[in-house]
Amino acid sequence: MPAVVKPRNPVFCAFDTALLDQAKSWAKSLAQSIGGIKLGLEFFSAQGPAGVAEVVGQSGLPLFLDLKFHDIPNTVAGAIKSVAPLRPFMVNVHASGSATMMRAAADAAGEAAAKLGSPRPLVLGVTILTSLDDGDLAAVGMQTSTADQVRRLAALAKSSGLDGVVCSPHEAALLRRDLGPGFVLVTPGVRPTWAGAQDQKRVMTPAEVLATGADYVVVGRPITGAADQAAAAQRIVTELAA
Ligand code: C5P
Repeated sequence: MPAVVKPRNPVFCAFDTALLDQAKSWAKSLAQSIGGIKLGLEFFSAQGPAGVAEVVGQSGLPLFLDLKFHDIPNTVAGAIKSVAPLRPFMVNVHASGSATMMRAAADAAGEAAAKLGSPRPLVLGVTILTSLDDGDLAAVGMQTSTADQVRRLAALAKSSGLDGVVCSPHEAALLRRDLGPGFVLVTPGVRPTWAGAQDQKRVMTPAEVLATGADYVVVGRPITGAADQAAAAQRIVTELAA
């Protein structure tokens, strides 16, 4: 199993596939250009930890294991310990799972890493999924705007010992102001001007995202759907650094 390495650049490519060969092929094409790989529920549910280890091991790239844990504190702590041998650079849990759950996740990450002798993964909070709007929150009994709820949950994530949050690029600047430097902000919904938006509605270009103070960006289809994937990734990295 590879040790955790620090990303060479802020771009984590979302490998949204259930197929091992597809993920390995992307990893091979992109090993020299992206900062890290994001593997989520689709891939993990199909290929399990062994599939993750194979893809990451082949590329040597840092892993964002995007499994969005949400359960009772003891179970989430156990899940974090179970994935620790994959030596992820980042893992995440739903911030709405409570301060106690987030604290348990952060503690478990530290304990597991110490036991393995590897660096502790960054534990991130998922605030409000960008697929939800104010009406969806009201339907589940939350009488608050998504923006207010994102700020509340991000602050709770910080006070509960998490290292950062996943957020929309449109929330990143506000959260940076709220929570100060050093709190990790990871943003999907990034679209270079030369790529289509697909189903992403509130997108920003890499240059705009950088200006918000985000630390890492998650980009999927503009890279994985490109004819020359390494060139597309390189172009985004260059735009981020400009
Ligand atoms: O292909 P695309 O760049 O839209 O992929 C973005 C990735 O980020 C996907 O894996 C998607 O599930 C994830 N994501 C997102 N919006 C969120 C949280 C995660 O697009 N709010």
